Amino acid sequence: MTALAENPLVQGLERLPVHPTALVIFGATGDLAHRKLLPALYNLAHEGALPERFELVGVSRSTYAHEEFRAIARESIARFSRTKPDPAVLDGLLADMRYIPGVFDDDSVYAELGRTLDELDDKAGYPLSRVFYLSTAPQFFPVIIGELGEAGLNRAKGGETRVVIEKPFGYDLASARKLNAQVLGVFDESQVFRIDHYLGKETVQNMMALRFANALFEPVWNRNYVDHVQITAAEDIGIEGRAGYYEGAGALRDLVQNHMLQLVALLTMEPPTAFEANRLRDEKLKVLEAIVPPAIENVPMMASRAQYGPGVQAGVAVRGYREEDGVAPESRTETYAALRLQISNWRWAGVPFYLRTGKRLARKVTEIEVQLKPVPHLAFQNQGSVGVQPNQIVITVQPDEGVSISLGAKIPGPRMRIRPVNMEFHYGTSFVSQSPEAYERLILDAMRGDATLFTRNDEIEALWGIIDPILTAWKEETASPIPQYPAGSQGPPEANALLQPGHSWRRL
Ligand code: BG6
Repeated sequence: MTALAENPLVQGLERLPVHPTALVIFGATGDLAHRKLLPALYNLAHEGALPERFELVGVSRSTYAHEEFRAIARESIARFSRTKPDPAVLDGLLADMRYIPGVFDDDSVYAELGRTLDELDDKAGYPLSRVFYLSTAPQFFPVIIGELGEAGLNRAKGGETRVVIEKPFGYDLASARKLNAQVLGVFDESQVFRIDHYLGKETVQNMMALRFANALFEPVWNRNYVDHVQITAAEDIGIEGRAGYYEGAGALRDLVQNHMLQLVALLTMEPPTAFEANRLRDEKLKVLEAIVPPAIENVPMMASRAQYGPGVQAGVAVRGYREEDGVAPESRTETYAALRLQISNWRWAGVPFYLRTGKRLARKVTEIEVQLKPVPHLAFQNQGSVGVQPNQIVITVQPDEGVSISLGAKIPGPRMRIRPVNMEFHYGTSFVSQSPEAYERLILDAMRGDATLFTRNDEIEALWGIIDPILTAWKEETASPIPQYPAGSQGPPEANALLQPGHSWRRL
């Protein structure tokens, strides 16, 4: 009993209990299901966080019998789970898992799904809530949504019915609007959970704790004290065999439109009156709408793109992007994107926000640096205090999760000499328990009907609205070559042109 009560995922269930649920994964044989969703479900089962009756149904194109699919799911969980699977828990989770093979535009798949779900209700003796998780390639989202509606599976039979939609939600602003219209033609917004796994990360949620559970930061969290903000989402990996998706996406769509702009929103929004879905998303929307999208002709001044060339990563020679399997030798898809944004509101006017992301950079790190302005007057200049630096607050989202604040401190000795030192909080040492994976939290929230950490329809359109002119400008600009950066490097020097005088990118 105590172990359950101490579990951070289970706490708060009294508020929104998880109703007995049937979870249907479309794209059940795909990479995401195997690497993330099935292991997350196993860990939820292990923590005792799933409802007492929980049924799992997989739908995908490959032909498998139920038993074959259970064996595959078992293997994936063993391979990708953050904890070593306990066979008894695994048996409990998968023993009755169903698998329905078929193409997503085939009506008979949905008839079969309807029968299966009814049968699971009969077995339970009451209607289960139904959660449809769309983890397929995005071109199937409208088809599946339409078919679910046709089959009448969009309406509850007693429990709740919800749909979780993976990223990318749309390809640009127009397609995101169209997809929103298609989804909302079948489901109510309250049934829709657009996922961005960054919002499920503990360290991302901690940004709200840092800002709103401490009196220390909020007074300086504005244009009077903040000089600039820098957000980095660097990866050391390449495209890992995902050329089919990545060639049509690029870094701007893959990471900036969703994950990075979500970080900006949480970092800069006004304090919500409650940590509740619509109150929080209202605040995020307001600040996203204050980011004025650039005019197309101004894009070169505020956005920079590049591709990784061949290089060396962790001592191993690696190929450049254009040599990757499935990538066109003349590809203009960016694997690196950097932006300078302005937030045109009372709190942030004039503060530059620098964002950069890239594949095959020197190391994997996601961090936010808030650099404060210099002190207005240094009283001990004549004492050799040349080392005084403006304070920096660095939130490390991953790895080495934590927060670090740099302070000017006196170097021991007879003179008043000062240099920066760091005051640090590390998750690893402050909390003994291992953090749950983002997907664990998000799947549970979707089953509970808590949309706080999911993206609302108006918010997704605001996110696309910010990058849409950049996508257009980059598509139209075909004359100049795409800058290249060596794999394993700090990125392209061209991105320095976005920085205002006196600013520099943090070293990776
Ligand atoms: C995904 C992107 O959304 O996020 C991937 O499609 C990227 O390209 C991944 O590698 C990064 O996620 P994380 O959790 O490893 O930072």
